This record gives sequence, C-alpha cells and structure tokens, in this order.
Amino acid sequence: MHVFVVDRRGREHRLEAESGWRVMEVIRDWGIGIRAECGGACACATCHVYVDENWAARLPAPEADELDRLDEAPGVGPLSRLSCQILTSDALDGLRVTLAPGSEVEREPAESEAA
Ligand code: FES
Repeated sequence: MHVFVVDRRGREHRLEAESGWRVMEVIRDWGIGIRAECGGACACATCHVYVDENWAARLPAPEADELDRLDEAPGVGPLSRLSCQILTSDALDGLRVTLAPGSEVEREPAESEAA
C-alpha cells in the first residue's frame, strides 16, 4: 500500500508502506522530517496531521487520549488526527495527509531542494 503526505512546503510525497505500521512511522522512516517527539506514545501531539477530507470518515474514530493530545496542539481543525494513532492497512491504500504546523522538523533545505 502507499500513503500520500504533503509536507509544510506543499510538496506531496508518495510513500510505500507495509500494513500495520503507524502512519507517523512511515512518514519518519521515509525521511520527511516529522517531529513525533514521543515516538508514538500519544503523549506529544507533534505528529499532528490533517487527513484529506475524502479519507477522514474512513478512519477509525480517535480514542479519548488522542483527543486529549489534540486539544493541546496548535492549528487543530475538524480533519486533525495524530498520525501515530493511524495504522496503515490495505483499506487505507492511498490515504492522504498533510503535516500540520508544529509537526515538521525545522531544517535548512538541501541544496538540491533550494528553489
Ligand atoms: S508521536 Fe507523540 S503523539 Fe504521536
């Protein structure tokens, strides 16, 4: 399966993924630069993403602790989820998410990425 991820610069990445992984892990392991400071323990909200509106209703509803963490995150909206709480599966093949403010590692773009 694969996941589409839009980074904070608006670039879309198509990431291959195994089923059963956390979306946060897929983003991190492909080097997109997600902060995810607690490593997926639902304790930091720095893996906050906006789920594409066509996909939002197809995800399992968030648990109470995910909602509690989202309450503390900046820029939360109706499509907000924590990407460490979304498990990849064949049913989510093609899922599209956008990194939310505060979730992307700040870094200088590589020379090859400079405009
Ligand atoms: S990685 Fe910390 S809440 Fe998701």
